[in-house]
Amino acid sequence: MQESKVLIAPSLLSSDFSRLAEEISALETAGADILHLDIMDGHYVPNLTFGFVIAQSVAKHTKLPLDAHLMVTNPADYVERLAKLSIRYFSFHPETVFHPHRLIAAIREHGMKAGAALNPGSPLGVLDELLPELDFVLLMSVNPGYSGQNFVPAVKEKVVNLKNKIRDLNLNLLIEVDGGINDKIAPELIKAGADIIVSASYIFNHSDYAAAIRSLRHVQ
Ligand code: DX5
Ligand code: ZN
Repeated sequence: MQESKVLIAPSLLSSDFSRLAEEISALETAGADILHLDIMDGHYVPNLTFGFVIAQSVAKHTKLPLDAHLMVTNPADYVERLAKLSIRYFSFHPETVFHPHRLIAAIREHGMKAGAALNPGSPLGVLDELLPELDFVLLMSVNPGYSGQNFVPAVKEKVVNLKNKIRDLNLNLLIEVDGGINDKIAPELIKAGADIIVSASYIFNHSDYAAAIRSLRHVQ
């Protein structure tokens, strides 16, 4: 089996929060490329996770790039404080903001990479006007809110279509896919054009994080 250059971003959502520093260092040793932080506010999604305080603790304990996925109704309010934590990737759900171009500009002015997150039920077309301004697109392959849900199969084709769009428009944009991804689905997504794979439950339910991360990089 071959390994791809895809970046693996474990989501801390399924980690043991009572042992966060240990979990982070285990992920580093296991070969994680990025740490994915699922920030939820209990309004945009029914679940509530963590905010600045925990994100700050994570930042203190790792040198890995941090990827903040904002599932909140007011992502603009997070830009400045997350930038201070040296967050590298900042994604928001476009339906939560009135002026997405303004938010993208603010994210980039604060030195972060700007991403738009698209739910499985939203068509790619809603991003057409934003694509030239973005650094990455996060395609949700579950409905946001929880880890451990099943992959929505239609998202695979969406990855292919987005990749084609990026190529046609000659853009420099990464595709991140998030939700329900395991070692069976990852190779298909990599083949379809995914650059970053997010995974929570598959990695944390595995007894060997390194083996789990390795298996997500395989292209058959
Ligand atoms: C869902 C989150 C995902 C989630 C992925 O709202 O955005 O990042 O943690 O979890 P799994 O990999 O278990 O589907
Ligand atoms: Zn996420």
